[in-house]
Amino acid sequence: MRVAVFRKEHFNAAHRLYRKDWDDKKNAEVFGLCSNPLYHGHNYYLVVKVTGEVDPETGYVLDLKILKDIVREEVLEKFDHRNLNEDTEEFRNLNPTAEHIVWVIYEKIRKRLDEKFDLSVRLYETERNFVEYPA
Ligand code: NI
Repeated sequence: MRVAVFRKEHFNAAHRLYRKDWDDKKNAEVFGLCSNPLYHGHNYYLVVKVTGEVDPETGYVLDLKILKDIVREEVLEKFDHRNLNEDTEEFRNLNPTAEHIVWVIYEKIRKRLDEKFDLSVRLYETERNFVEYPA
């Protein structure tokens, strides 16, 4: 029997959407308010979904404590209360759009999870705008 288990988390972070190879005018045209040079913050909500077989011995897909620790170490400790552009290696040269952030988070969690599990990650940048990877 396959079941999906979920862990919800949230973190606060600042970012600015821009390309270094474009000037401020072009960045403002393409990214609008999100390209404000002095940055702005979001309350990001994260939903991590792990799907797998229920272990007949434990009745678990995986112990959610393990997933909680992975998300804390890989995401919250790295991104919570940070400026994504300035304070993180991951986004020093990668525009911190929700699309790129969800992909980075997916890759970090994927490396820590057994291959037997399927993983997908949903990231809410606002209540109404969210992304999911893989699509
Ligand atoms: Ni933004």
